[in-house]
Amino acid sequence: MTDSLTIRDNRTGREFEVAITDGTIRAADLKQIAVEGEPGLATYDPGFVNTASCRSAVTYIDGDAGILEYRGYPIEQLAEHSTFLEVAYLLLNGELPTAAELEQWTHDITYHTFLHENVKQLIEGFRYDAHPMGMLMASVSALSTFYPDAREIHDADNRKLQIARLIAKMPTLGAFAYRHQLGKPYVYPDNRLSYTENFLAMLFKMSEPSYQADPRLVKALDILLILHADHEQNCSTNAVRSVGSSEVDPYSAVGAGIGALFGPLHGGANEAVLAMLRRIGTTDNIPGFIEGVKAGKEKLMGFGHRVYKNYDPRAKIIKKAADDVFAVTGVNPLLEIALELEKIALEDEYFVKRKLYPNVDFYSGLIYEALQFPPEMFTVLFAIGRTPGWLAQWSELVQDKEQKIARPKQIYTGHRTREFTPISER
Ligand code: CMC
Repeated sequence: MTDSLTIRDNRTGREFEVAITDGTIRAADLKQIAVEGEPGLATYDPGFVNTASCRSAVTYIDGDAGILEYRGYPIEQLAEHSTFLEVAYLLLNGELPTAAELEQWTHDITYHTFLHENVKQLIEGFRYDAHPMGMLMASVSALSTFYPDAREIHDADNRKLQIARLIAKMPTLGAFAYRHQLGKPYVYPDNRLSYTENFLAMLFKMSEPSYQADPRLVKALDILLILHADHEQNCSTNAVRSVGSSEVDPYSAVGAGIGALFGPLHGGANEAVLAMLRRIGTTDNIPGFIEGVKAGKEKLMGFGHRVYKNYDPRAKIIKKAADDVFAVTGVNPLLEIALELEKIALEDEYFVKRKLYPNVDFYSGLIYEALQFPPEMFTVLFAIGRTPGWLAQWSELVQDKEQKIARPKQIYTGHRTREFTPISER
């Protein structure tokens, strides 16, 4: 077998051979296939459904088999045995840390959790009902003005510093955005606490001298952060890479990723799932709702995935974590509707034929709600979890000699070379 593809252009009768490497051909190799006077052949791929945009050694997904691995470690093992900061280290450095490396890494992150007071003032400037994702996006982007040295993206030590800063500050920014909405005073980081405990304390602490979260709930939230830590070339990571390809600083690139994550087809889906479950209200209404979905009136939120054509492995872990959380908090009444909805959908021909299974967002919202998070905070939690992944992918991009500024082609469908008409004649 030769690793090449022979293409016959039926317009000209000419044949071309292009190399196949790693199961792909290079789109640029198609340029040579041209009819005289016309540009060379290109591919048309809205939504990048069959186009690899990079080489990456961070995350492996086999969507048909329902496999997800970070740096070669199955997500199930990481969720069971690891912590979020350990997983962040793994994603960024390619290896699990030794005890000494983890201690240093934990120290580095803890050291950077505080925000410049002007960032607090920036958040104070938002309206009382501003969505926390909007506040997070703006404040992360604003960090580029506080750390102008972040523009030195080709300096490895500098990248390390900005990465630690951003991972450290995300929970503080998320918590400040949350407290702003409620009109509650901001709670400063308590660096005696773990990453996840500290986040919970900044969100929920009131007058008590120190906030004590139930360790089972801390563990569940840590697992959720691990499950969201990376997912190869998803919409927001693609946004980070695309914006990062202009060689802008990482805060601006991650700000773009947060914008992409905000959308209801991506990270905003968990918020949409709860709204949907609430609207359905009782299990009796499920058949009518499913009929509406099948008729194309709306989507079953939390179902379907571009890559997984099988049960999302993250959804399985979350379903189990939900049981652990509900053992502490009591069962979320919407769970009954979600379980029944899943049961019906998994048996229904519409969903079976299209290989639509629950994704990570189907059950995560129920846990977040049980942990007392309001729905607007769900995507913020996703963003905090995804930050190490965005940064690992950004770091890879910056060091990849093959990468160029992202600049897709288009198929132009508009007018050509028209004569300008003065406004009086239009
Ligand atoms: N409910 C009903 N029908 C659906 C759904 C759904 N949730 N998802 C896909 N379909 C149908 C779709 O209408 C299409 O049907 P047909 O072939 O008759 O036109 C078929 O399934 C294939 O769907 P697609 O739109 O080509 O799939 P996609 O890969 O472009 O979209 C998706 C993937 C995740 C955007 C989509 O499944 C969706 O909108 N799901 C609901 C939103 C959601 O849960 N998003 C979270 C994704 S996981 C976390 C994350 O990425 O942030």
